[in-house]
Amino acid sequence: MKKYTVRLTLNGTPREYSVGANELLLNVIREQEKLTGTKYGCGIGECGACTVHVNGKPTLSCLELAVSADGADVVTIEGLARGGELDPLQKSFLDNNAVQCGYCTPGMIMVGRNLLDENPNPTEDEVRTHMRGQLCRCTGYASITKAVMGAGSAGAFRMPAE
Ligand code: FES
Ligand code: FES
Repeated sequence: MKKYTVRLTLNGTPREYSVGANELLLNVIREQEKLTGTKYGCGIGECGACTVHVNGKPTLSCLELAVSADGADVVTIEGLARGGELDPLQKSFLDNNAVQCGYCTPGMIMVGRNLLDENPNPTEDEVRTHMRGQLCRCTGYASITKAVMGAGSAGAFRMPAE
């Protein structure tokens, strides 16, 4: 099968991959990079578990071809912490008991991070609307919503990449 070279900046580091035409970005992240924080849920764009940031925007990596992401800046859940410090939203999920099985959590945090970057003090309705594509089978969403709002009111946000 023909292979293509794809270059990404992944969590701040330039990386290069050889991929097939139909290789998914999710597979590059999980299988080539072994970054298993990004989850495979439905595989058809309905659960949000596979969400990463591509050029700053939440993106379903189960629907994104790796070749389409060539040249992009990609951030996964592993890329949010800086210098051993969790992102404030990651901390807020822990503080608010917003994690049960944890399968949805990386995708929730990537989408919540995007919301807080754009709107540091979202209302409950704004959180629920922004995160409506993220499915959780465990928590009932109240604690997740509280965690996102709590991180916003803390006024502390992700430090810029070094
Ligand atoms: S695994 Fe990508 S949306 Fe469900
Ligand atoms: S914490 Fe289990 S699916 Fe959300």
